[in-house]
Amino acid sequence: MRPATRTAMFGTTIFTEMTRLANEHGAVNLAQGFPDFDGPEFVKEAAKRAIDAGHNQYAPMAGLPALAERIARDVAARTGVVREPSTEVLIGCGATELLFDAVLALTEPGDEVVMLEPFYDSYLAAVRLAGATPRVVRLSPPAFELTRDALAAAVSDRTRLIVVNQPHNPSGRVFTRAELSLVAEVARARDLPCLSDEVYDRLVYARPHLSPSSLEGMAERTMVFGSLSKTYSLTGWRVGWVTGPRELVAATRAAHQFVTFTTPAPLQHGAMAALDAPPEYYGRLVDDYRARRDLLVAALAEAELEPFACDGAYFVCAGFSRFAFDDDVAFARFLTAEIGVAAIPPSAFHLTPGGGRSYVRFTFAKQQATLARAAERLRALAGSARRR
Ligand SMILES: Cc1ncc(COP(=O)(O)O)c(C=O)c1O
Repeated sequence: MRPATRTAMFGTTIFTEMTRLANEHGAVNLAQGFPDFDGPEFVKEAAKRAIDAGHNQYAPMAGLPALAERIARDVAARTGVVREPSTEVLIGCGATELLFDAVLALTEPGDEVVMLEPFYDSYLAAVRLAGATPRVVRLSPPAFELTRDALAAAVSDRTRLIVVNQPHNPSGRVFTRAELSLVAEVARARDLPCLSDEVYDRLVYARPHLSPSSLEGMAERTMVFGSLSKTYSLTGWRVGWVTGPRELVAATRAAHQFVTFTTPAPLQHGAMAALDAPPEYYGRLVDDYRARRDLLVAALAEAELEPFACDGAYFVCAGFSRFAFDDDVAFARFLTAEIGVAAIPPSAFHLTPGGGRSYVRFTFAKQQATLARAAERLRALAGSARRR
């Protein structure tokens, strides 16, 4: 009756605890990164029509060809990298599933996988379930810069794979060409594949998104992960995709066919409508998110927190040095229970002991009214007894 050690090691996460605490105290939940508003009607309608039209049996293993074509077209238009829809695109149950498939497909037990720290927590789980060893490239607040030294410290002769993510969760960083070129240099020199998680690629507020796959020598070694979740506010649909060189996609397909096998057919029809959205859709999306970000940043500053710059994705991290707390977990608990606003303590996104202790992460994937409610509550912070 004992669980296997490979899953027992995960235990209950801080996210479960924060959600429980948020519910218990009726806190405004800026912890979990999902929208509290709905996805677009034209996408939902397309999925409903697909159900009524009888698209209710297994879809092809690698995804609907017509959706793969749209994904390849979108990737080519935005990165300049041309992929063959029938062999170089794979559709799965969210980017999360495909990242897991790719890690399983491309590493052997004992291999090392390099990832940025702080990281999206599912990378660590995937690497560990594959029996590989995680190595982290430390990004330090408030700038979260990707440096040559930090990268060199993480890479070794045992490195088998590099995972990058940008716009970056949790920091909101959008890396510069120079920073991404450091990754490209290492990947080329060591002939490594690179997994590039770009699920927030449409959510950029300062400069255009740059995919590492478009850097010299990178198209042939980079798999780019995309998703309906963030761009179309449909995190519950679990539709994501990966594009990449044929051999890497073939290996990932081999894992996918036994992990989920296929992705819900009607939702893939909905995804086709999503990818047909007019350019105005994306302009509006960014404008709305920029306004939400500005509202949250102003509220955090007014509460005497220290918000860090956010150029992408939908998270703002903020330091709390003016308040007397030992670490991020203690501060996040206080904020949730006493102030009524839930945030994530980012030490959960670190392997390095002590990493992420000095700040917390808030999401602004919320309606302006929700953010205004959080702002109202945060005002109590500046006057609290815990101010230094
Ligand atoms: C960096 C990153 N990658 C992937 C995902 C999940 O994407 P999906 O919903 O397509 O699995 C998230 C969601 O929080 C994320 O932050």
